[in-house]
Amino acid sequence: MRPYIICHMITSIDGRLHPSRFTAAAAGISTDALRGHYETVADQFEAEGWIVGRMTMSEMAKGQERTVSAVTPIERTPYVANRNGRNLAIAIDPSGRLHYGRDNIGGDHIVAVLGEQVSDAYLSELWEDGVSYVFAGPKGDDLSLAMAQLASVFGVKKLLLEGGGRINGSFLRQRLIDEFSTLIYPGIDGLAGTPSIVDWDGGDDDQRPGAGQALRLIACETLEGGMVWLRHAVEPAPAV
Ligand SMILES: NC(=O)c1ccc[n+]([C@@H]2O[C@H](COP(=O)([O-])OP(=O)(O)OC[C@H]3O[C@@H](n4cnc5c(N)ncnc54)[C@H](OP(=O)(O)O)[C@@H]3O)[C@@H](O)[C@H]2O)c1
Repeated sequence: MRPYIICHMITSIDGRLHPSRFTAAAAGISTDALRGHYETVADQFEAEGWIVGRMTMSEMAKGQERTVSAVTPIERTPYVANRNGRNLAIAIDPSGRLHYGRDNIGGDHIVAVLGEQVSDAYLSELWEDGVSYVFAGPKGDDLSLAMAQLASVFGVKKLLLEGGGRINGSFLRQRLIDEFSTLIYPGIDGLAGTPSIVDWDGGDDDQRPGAGQALRLIACETLEGGMVWLRHAVEPAPAV
């Protein structure tokens, strides 16, 4: 069993990822009110944590790389530090590139999802920081395995997947998204090639990461300032 996973994102009307690039709010509309919807809506789901890709977490994890004498050998099994009842801040970091220097992001307990090939020294650093971890197979790309461990080890039943586009693409490709919650900001980016909210970069093996899946609109609401909140359930595509 794995947790129910909701991909919760804010996007311009052209599906782009970077709010700083969106056109200005129209006269009389508060940018702060528009941006504030993201956390307000996220809270409504009452999820037990959130998941982000390595790039997105690097904007929040501000620890310094340092040399830690490794306790060796360290078994590649899940490690649970002191969660203390907190929600989880989960980073998909297959190569162990992130450095935390603390055990939380904004009060949520950090859990690293790693590949088994990370060094014992890196795992020792996470121990020192009080960071928990699970493994996503030898290369860190078996996201199903990692999600199942989060459910069995931490007992979580519902998680938000909060980007960026590449990790969202990998979750979609591995059929791990149960629902999309999309906030459509009344603005546009417009530049060709700008990242979008789902950006599978898996090469040639499958150019359609959503193949075999279908979306069903389950809710649509207009929020203050003209933000549109869409919810889509992800289902198996009907047989043709
Ligand atoms: N609009 C929004 O709501 C929103 C939300 C979140 C983020 N963002 C923005 O999005 C940007 C980052 O997006 P991004 O797409 O470049 O990066 P990302 O999805 O945050 O992270 C990508 C990284 O995740 C790891 N990864 C990817 N696929 C994986 C797989 N199958 N298994 C294991 N690990 C995998 C890889 O790490 P390695 O390279 O280490 O292998 C990859 O480089 C940031 O600028 C952020 O501000 C916007």
